[in-house]
Amino acid sequence: MAYSDGNDCFTWEDNGVATFDGYDVAELAESYPTPFYLLSQKQIRKNFEQFKEAFSGADGGIRIYYSVKGNFESVVLSTLAEMGAGAEISGAMDMELAKRAGMNPSQVVFDGPCKSIEEIEAALEWGVHMIDIESLTEARDVNEVAGRMGRKLDVGIRIDPVLSKPYYDKVIATYRKKFGLPIDQALEVGCQINEFENLNLKCIMTHIGSQVFHPNRYVLTLEKIFDLAKGFKSRGIEINEINMGGGYPAQSMRNLRISRRFRIAKILEKFDRIDVQASSIYDFGKAITGKYNELKKSTGLSPQLSIEPGRCIVSNACVTVGKVLIIKNDWLFTDVSINNLPENLFFSEWRTVWPGHKPNEESKNYNISGPTLATQDVHFFKRDVPDLKEGSPMAILDTGAYSIARSNQFTRPRVAVYAVTDSGDITMVRRPESVDDVLAMQVWPNRDTEQKKASGE
Ligand SMILES: Cc1ncc(COP(=O)(O)O)c(C=O)c1O
Repeated sequence: MAYSDGNDCFTWEDNGVATFDGYDVAELAESYPTPFYLLSQKQIRKNFEQFKEAFSGADGGIRIYYSVKGNFESVVLSTLAEMGAGAEISGAMDMELAKRAGMNPSQVVFDGPCKSIEEIEAALEWGVHMIDIESLTEARDVNEVAGRMGRKLDVGIRIDPVLSKPYYDKVIATYRKKFGLPIDQALEVGCQINEFENLNLKCIMTHIGSQVFHPNRYVLTLEKIFDLAKGFKSRGIEINEINMGGGYPAQSMRNLRISRRFRIAKILEKFDRIDVQASSIYDFGKAITGKYNELKKSTGLSPQLSIEPGRCIVSNACVTVGKVLIIKNDWLFTDVSINNLPENLFFSEWRTVWPGHKPNEESKNYNISGPTLATQDVHFFKRDVPDLKEGSPMAILDTGAYSIARSNQFTRPRVAVYAVTDSGDITMVRRPESVDDVLAMQVWPNRDTEQKKASGE
């Protein structure tokens, strides 16, 4: 299967040489302590440029809020800020990151189901463009803070477009009614929100999933949102922004294979349906902006279109590099743990490469494990791999989204992040944590006091 569609900065040649943004990955595995993440600044730029271009057909332009939580490394945020991206933040930490990156608050939207009073205050003080409200309780809080600050605030509501029969992924449907307001309640609740003394309802926002494969789902959602906007108009409320959220697929994973660790994948494989095809970002841009332009015309409404991409901007801009540690029976242990890649379980089976070996070399069958003492620290089961040795390098592609951001410290500190910068140099953008870093947050009983007590001083 193809590892690169020619759109990303990774290559794996027939002679076994694997490169990431021009660097030989096997050599990197020798030069830097493994495991580590390696980002590409050029790839981040390219992904953002392509995204902008894909959506450039929107009548009145498009506002792009990069979803900070997907990857909040300094090089990612400062590159995107410099390129004019706004940000979607979901709490105080994201807010601080957006500030550090130099993002303009007038291009920042604040999402999430449980914003604290302190976070709402901080967002208003900083002057964020929009707070997207998800419940009446939250509306009450935002109204109260705005009142205290003497402000009349434009706000959005997040809607959940899924009704009883979802037209997209079962995974997402499982969580229906969790985020936002169910679409069949949105008109009434939205009007109630607008009645709060200090709030003006101005935006409808939604987010329909992640790695969504087909633009049709957005098109159907847009129709529902315009209907809702018409409903608000008939109640005297003018919606001036429609935010379609994130979910656009990583382009490097347009031919995505679901990992066989999931039972459903085994069934799909049997029927030769394990490969899931995603549309290109240009198809998404064309379908969404085309529908938006059409609905604008047919309804006479003219809300600004905005979006919150995350994964598709960063996924293929990162590779995780590691080594084989120990081979025992049919288990092959690597120094990369699923701690480092908690979200990649769905696909890392098919995105793992073995630099120094040919792409189709498959001579041994192993279960590929991480190094921790966690039973489930397994990248994948029973997979044919080349004749690997202890010390052989490995690389997992497409680890830019929700990997570093979600990595955890189960039995070991988190690892370093490097970036190949625009100039082609490699620079460290996050130092590896030490054991002391991790333990510094722990509170131990004051041993001095205990000792003094014991010796009767
Ligand atoms: C509200 C919201 N917007 C945008 C995103 C970004 O989604 P993606 O990374 O799939 O583009 C997310 C991700 O969960 C989200 O929750």
